[in-house]
Amino acid sequence: MKPQRLLDQMFRKYFLLFFGAVLLLLTTAFSLECTKYNVKSCQDCIESGPGCAWCKKRDFTKRGEPDSVRCDTKQQLLEKGCDGNIIFPESFAHPFPSDQPNRNKQIYPEEVQLRLRPEQPAVFNVTFRRGEDYPIDLYYLMDLSFSMEDDLQIVKKLGGDLLKALQSITKRARIGFGAFVDKTVLPFVNTHPEKLQNPCPSKEIKCQPPFAFRHVLSLTDDIQSFQEEVGKQNISGNLDAPEGGLDAMMQAAVCGNKIGWKNVTRLLVYTTDDGFHFAGDGKLGAILTPFDGECHLEENMYKKSNEYDYPSVGQLIQKLKENNIQPIFAVTSKVYDTYEKLSKMIPKSAVGKLQENSNNIIQLIQHAYDDLSSKIILEHSSVPSSIKISYDSFCPNKIHTKDQPRGECDNVKINNEITFQVKITATSCIENQTLTLQPLGFTDFTTVRIRSRCNCECDEEIPSKSDCNGQGSIDCGICRCKAGYIGKNCDCKTGGKTSKELEKSCRKDNASVICSGLGDCVCGQCICHTMADTKKHIYGSFCECDNMNCELHNGQVCGGEARGVCDCGKCKCKGGFDGTACQCISSTDGCVNKNGNVCSLRGECQCNTCKCNGQYQPPFCEECPSCPSLCTRNVSCVECLAFGSGPFQKNCSDACSNITVQSKVLSEGKQCKEKDSQNCWISYTIFQTDGVEHYTITVNPEKECPQPPNIAAIVGGTIAGVALIGLLLLMAWRLVAELIDRREYHRFEKEKSKAKWNEADNPLFKSATTTVVNPRFNGQ
Ligand SMILES: *[C@@H]1O[C@H](CO)[C@@H](O)[C@H](O)[C@H]1NC(C)=O
Ligand SMILES: *[C@@H]1O[C@H](CO)[C@@H](O)[C@H](O)[C@H]1NC(C)=O
Ligand SMILES: *[C@@H]1O[C@H](CO)[C@@H](O)[C@H](O)[C@H]1NC(C)=O
Ligand SMILES: *[C@@H]1O[C@H](CO)[C@@H](O)[C@H](O)[C@H]1NC(C)=O
Ligand SMILES: *[C@@H]1O[C@H](CO)[C@@H](O)[C@H](O)[C@H]1NC(C)=O
Ligand SMILES: *[C@@H]1O[C@H](CO)[C@@H](O)[C@H](O)[C@H]1NC(C)=O
Ligand SMILES: *[C@@H]1O[C@H](CO)[C@@H](O)[C@H](O)[C@H]1NC(C)=O
Ligand SMILES: *[C@@H]1O[C@H](CO)[C@@H](O)[C@H](O)[C@H]1NC(C)=O
Repeated sequence: MKPQRLLDQMFRKYFLLFFGAVLLLLTTAFSLECTKYNVKSCQDCIESGPGCAWCKKRDFTKRGEPDSVRCDTKQQLLEKGCDGNIIFPESFAHPFPSDQPNRNKQIYPEEVQLRLRPEQPAVFNVTFRRGEDYPIDLYYLMDLSFSMEDDLQIVKKLGGDLLKALQSITKRARIGFGAFVDKTVLPFVNTHPEKLQNPCPSKEIKCQPPFAFRHVLSLTDDIQSFQEEVGKQNISGNLDAPEGGLDAMMQAAVCGNKIGWKNVTRLLVYTTDDGFHFAGDGKLGAILTPFDGECHLEENMYKKSNEYDYPSVGQLIQKLKENNIQPIFAVTSKVYDTYEKLSKMIPKSAVGKLQENSNNIIQLIQHAYDDLSSKIILEHSSVPSSIKISYDSFCPNKIHTKDQPRGECDNVKINNEITFQVKITATSCIENQTLTLQPLGFTDFTTVRIRSRCNCECDEEIPSKSDCNGQGSIDCGICRCKAGYIGKNCDCKTGGKTSKELEKSCRKDNASVICSGLGDCVCGQCICHTMADTKKHIYGSFCECDNMNCELHNGQVCGGEARGVCDCGKCKCKGGFDGTACQCISSTDGCVNKNGNVCSLRGECQCNTCKCNGQYQPPFCEECPSCPSLCTRNVSCVECLAFGSGPFQKNCSDACSNITVQSKVLSEGKQCKEKDSQNCWISYTIFQTDGVEHYTITVNPEKECPQPPNIAAIVGGTIAGVALIGLLLLMAWRLVAELIDRREYHRFEKEKSKAKWNEADNPLFKSATTTVVNPRFNGQ
C-alpha cells in the first residue's frame, strides 16, 4: 500500500474513532442546499458547494437518468434510497495528543490536524491553563540621562531586592540590565570634546560619556553580579528632552543571543522620565538611513546608532511581537500619558507610574507582571487569504465572546483554565498549510496542520464481471470504460467509429448539443433523461420534445389536462376547447349578429368573440367609428345611380357595383342629405349590408336645387350704390375742409387784434436833442 493511502486510512480510522467524542463533527450544521451545474463526476459534485453529496450506489440512476442525479443534498439522496453509499467529505479537526493534557505545557492540544472541505468550517477547542511558577526573564533598561541620577542610586540599592521579588513570583527568574542615553550627535548631545567626555553640568559628579545603548548585563539569576554591574554605572547626560529609548528597546529585542533571552515569559522594563525620539527625528542630526531591523551590538554597545535613524513605533511593535517580548513602561507622571498611548498600540504591554526617585519600582513591576500575565491573547501566525479564522473565547467569570479575530481573556488567575473555540474555514482547495496558535507572551503553542478535503475518496470495491460489462472500472459508482467502449454500462462497442462520429447521429443538426442536452447518446441513439421528480416527459429522436413547454392558461399547461395536452410545444385541445392554450370554448354563439352572420362577415370568431377586420369594432363588427361617415362615402355613386349624372356618369355600373338601389323605403339605415356635383341637395337612406363592402340605398327622387340670381338688378344696384357713396364722401370732405378754414381765419383775426403798439411815454426817456432859444433872437 502506498504511504499516502496508509495515511488516508489512518485518518479515516481516527476519524471514526473520535466520531462520538468531543471532537467536532458538523453533520447537522449542513442541511445546506446543493446547487449543481454541469456535474459529471463525484469531484464536480463535491466542488459544487458545501451542501453537495454524491451517491456512489451502482444502480442508483435509472435508465435515461443523467449522472448528475447522484449529486444532491444528503437529505435528498437518503430519500431517494441511497443509504450507506453517500460520499460527503466533511471538514474535521483531529487534535493530538488525544488523551490527557500534558501538564508541563500550558496549552492543549499540541497539534491539530485539519481536513478542510471548501466553505465548511472545522471547529476545535484550545485550552489554556495558566501554570504556576512560569519562568521569567526580565531585562531592565534604564535611561541614564542626567535627571535620572537619583533613580540610578535607588536602583543600585534595590537591585538585589528586585531579583528577590521576582523570585517570589517564580523560582526561575533571571534579570539583565542595559542603559541608554541618545545618539551622540548634535542636537541630541553636546559634541564639544570636553562635554562629550563629561556631559554633566558639574565636574564633581562622576559622569560617563553619552552613548546610544549599552548592554551591561546578560540575563542571569546571580544577584551578586547584578548588584556589581549596576553599581558600576555612572550617570550621563544629553541636550534635548526626548531620549533614544526606541533605539535601545529595539536592540534589546533583536539581539536575543547577546541579551540571553530564553523561551520563557520575556519582560522588558523600560524606565525613563522623558519622551522618546522616533523615526524621522534622526534627520535633525543628519541621519537619513532608515533603521534596518538588525542587531548591531558590538562589544555590548550599539555602535551604529549614528548611521541609522530611530526605528518607528510600528517597527518596534513588530519586533517585540516577533520576539515575544512584553514591555513594561515604568515612567514618571510627567510622561505617563505618552507611554500609555504607546502601550495601547502594543497588545501585551503595561505602564506604571514611577515615583521621582524610582522608589516604587519593585511594586510597579510586580503589579505590571500580574496585569500582563492575567491577560491571555491567543493569536495565529499569518495565513493565506483563503483561510478564515475566528475565535470564541470562554473566559473566567463566564465571560464569553464570539467570532473575534483573536482569542482574548482578562483576569486569568494561576491554575485557571480557559477555552478558545477556534473556527477555521478554507474558501477554496488549498495546499498543505501549517500555522501556529500562540498565547502572546508565552512560548507554548499549538501547531495546526491543514490539508484540503477536495477529493471524493470513494474506496471502490473491485468490479465484478458483470459490472460495466466487464469493460471498465468503477469510479464513485460510474463506469469508466476502456477504449473502444462507451455507454453508461460500457455496453456500446464503438466498432471503430470514434465517439464523435457516433455522437453525430445524436445531434439534430451539426451545431446543436447531443440529444438537445436532455439525453444520453447511447450507441448513436438518444436515450432521453427521465425526470423522476417532475411530471416532465422528454421524447423525440433528439429529445427535442417535451410535454411541458406549451402556452399556459390559468397557470396550467394547455389549460390543464381536462382541456388539452402539450405535444412538443403545441397544445392539442380536446373536444369543445380551442385556442393556442386551449383557453376557449369552441362555440360561435357570441359572434352571430341579428342576420345570423358571424361577425357581420367582416371578421373572425375567436374564443366566441369577434376579431374584426380593418377598423370595424366588436361585438359584431357592425360599427366603424373611425371610417368616413356612411353619408359622405360614395355620394357620386348615389348621384349616378339615382339621377344618371355626376363624375361617374359614364362608368356607373362598374364603379358602383357594390351599391344596390332599392325603391322600397328601408326600415333601418342612415338618413343622409348631401350636395351633389350640381350643388343640389339629394336625400337618401343608406344601409351597409353584411359583408365587406356592400350598401343598399333608397333615394328621394326630388332634388332641392337653389334659384338662379337676377343679374340686371344686381348690376344696377351696385353701380348706383357706388355713385351714391362717392357723392356722400365728397360732400363730407368739403364740409370738413370748410370748417377747418373758418377756424383758421378766426384765429388769425384774433392774433391780429392783439398786436397793437404801446404808445405810453417812458418817464426815464430823454431825447438826444435839446432845443435852445437864442435870447437875442426876437423872431426876426
Ligand atoms: C469548546 O468548549 C466549549 C466550552 O467548554 C464548549 O461549549 C464547546 O462545545 C467546545 N467545542 C468543541 C468543538 O469541542
Ligand atoms: C564610573 O565612574 C568610575 C569613577 O570615575 C569609573 O571607574 C567607572 O569606570 C565608571 N563606569 C562606567 C561604566 O563608565
Ligand atoms: C525558542 O523557540 C523557538 C521556536 O519558537 C526556537 O526556534 C528556539 O530555538 C527556542 N530557543 C530556545 C533558547 O529554546
Ligand atoms: C500534504 O500532507 C499530506 C500528509 O499530511 C501528504 O500526504 C501530502 O503529500 C501533502 N501534500 C503536499 C502537496 O505536500
Ligand atoms: C454538417 O456538416 C457537414 C460537414 O461538416 C456538412 O456536409 C453538412 O451539410 C452539415 N449539415 C448541416 C445540417 O449543416
Ligand atoms: C366608396 O368610396 C370609397 C372612398 O371614399 C371608395 O374607396 C370605394 O371604392 C367607394 N365604393 C363604391 C361602391 O363606390
Ligand atoms: C366591391 O366589393 C368587393 C368586395 O366585396 C371589392 O373587392 C370591390 O373593390 C368593391 N368594388 C368597388 C367598386 O368598390
Ligand atoms: C369612372 O370614371 C371616372 C371619370 O370618368 C374615373 O375618375 C373613375 O376612376 C372611373 N372609375 C372606375 C371604377 O372605372
